[in-house]
Amino acid sequence: MLMMQIKQARKTFNPGTVNEKRAIAGVDLSVEEGDFITVIGGNGAGKSTLLNLISGTYPLDSGEILLNSGGGAGDAGGVLADRFINIGRLPEHKRARYVARVFQDPMMGTCGGMEIQENLALAYRRGKPRTLRWAIGKSEKELYHNALKRLDLGLESRMSAKVKLLSGGQRQALTLLMATLQRPDVLLLDEHTAALDPKTAARVQKLTTELTEESNITTVMITHNMRDAIKYGNRLIMMNEGNIIYEARGQEKAALKVEDLLRKFESNAGGQTLSDRMILG
Ligand SMILES: Nc1ncnc2c1ncn2[C@@H]1O[C@H](COP(=O)(O)OP(=O)(O)OP(=O)(O)O)[C@@H](O)[C@H]1O
Ligand SMILES: [Mg+2]
Repeated sequence: MLMMQIKQARKTFNPGTVNEKRAIAGVDLSVEEGDFITVIGGNGAGKSTLLNLISGTYPLDSGEILLNSGGGAGDAGGVLADRFINIGRLPEHKRARYVARVFQDPMMGTCGGMEIQENLALAYRRGKPRTLRWAIGKSEKELYHNALKRLDLGLESRMSAKVKLLSGGQRQALTLLMATLQRPDVLLLDEHTAALDPKTAARVQKLTTELTEESNITTVMITHNMRDAIKYGNRLIMMNEGNIIYEARGQEKAALKVEDLLRKFESNAGGQTLSDRMILG
């Protein structure tokens, strides 16, 4: 089932000024439900901007982002008919129903001054009609307890602790849990393990795979680590100067080596080489 279709998306920052920057130069991308797409590319390639256009952080200059919200969340059996909505025109807060995201900075996805369970409750209520009742009921607490338990970080026994007391890795794991608590139509991950130490990063990455596979969540994950880009997901796209310059899927993707990606980049990006950050990542 087609989940998201990006058609000729374009975005230029500061048009008509000396700082004009074409960040997305006419991107087309069709995403099937359950696809896990890794995105690589050098600094300034437009990776984050692409995610920002999907989430609605920035409006599109032109083009469309169509999301199949009919057969999405809550319709795992695919009973409902496809129903495409153009989220390219929806304000960010209205897209939050469909699109969840996790950033690189662990401080951004959670509210430090609130309790762990309050953060989860916020995520759980996302996109639901607001009621005056804020109290977290018993069954809801149980749900959070079980969800936290699977993180294996001991957070289930600290549900009323303030989130600011958590480590970066714990916070990022919690953010991921919050992003997937209500199955989003699309999950966007922007180098969400890059700020963590290697061991914690591996743990959060493993959790990412588990949570997304379990609920068959359509995911787009930016990484600067080419090995991770090859290892995770069923599709890989490479970006340069606001364009997708290479794509691999399935078996072809799984068989890739880092050297192959470097070679593809050089041949498809007009002789440019990837930044050291990418090569070493
Ligand atoms: N809010 C903004 N205002 C002006 N220019 C921007 C803005 N956001 C991004 N850009 C520019 O758009 C281009 C693409 O940036 P983007 O952040 O999408 O790159 P990226 O691929 O995510 O790079 P990185 O690997 O460094 O995160 C860059 O030249 C960047 O400077
Ligand atoms: Mg970026």
